[in-house]
Amino acid sequence: MIKTIQGDITTLAVDAIVNAANQRMLGGGGVDGAIHRAAGRELYEACLAVPEVRPGVRCPTGEARITPGFRLPAKFVIHTVGPVYRDGRHGEPELLAACYRNSLALAAENACRSIAFPCISTGVYGYPIEDAAKIAVREVQAAVSARASSRPDATADMEVVFCCFSARDKTIYDRIVP
Ligand code: APR
Repeated sequence: MIKTIQGDITTLAVDAIVNAANQRMLGGGGVDGAIHRAAGRELYEACLAVPEVRPGVRCPTGEARITPGFRLPAKFVIHTVGPVYRDGRHGEPELLAACYRNSLALAAENACRSIAFPCISTGVYGYPIEDAAKIAVREVQAAVSARASSRPDATADMEVVFCCFSARDKTIYDRIVP
């Protein structure tokens, strides 16, 4: 089941909320800052413990890492790093799609029954919201229907929430989500 809401993702009592992080995974502004503030210091410590794959990089762009949610109502935080938008012709669409695919896979591996996404890359990273929303909805629909056919069990009915911070973003998602 897929739905779109407008609100603050840090308040959602879902199994996992997705964080639009950066590759260092030690916090930042936007939704990253909000999640770290709400989760508390332990989230920073848990991120620090995530091994670097190369100096200064804990989560490469397009990949995802999972930590507990600590003081958040959500059980887990899935940190993913979206692409910085240039012109859409430097692999940005594929990397953004990978963020959604890898976050969903990590949620399923951790038996999550519900997951909430912010509008990844559409803030500081400058991804045009319409293009990003189309990729987000396409990837979520593909993942959910794939599981429904191959594994008609728990993961098939994972509840996916697109949590838009602004009314404008919600309007755009509402036009795309069937
Ligand atoms: N709940 C839900 N969505 C939020 C919240 C919140 N509390 N705060 C911000 N947002 C929305 C923004 O309005 C935007 O639509 O999250 C979306 C993503 O914007 P950013 O947080 O700027 O993330 P992104 O564009 O992916 O840039 C990531 O910004 O904060 C830094 O450390 C982060 O370097 C990374 C970069």
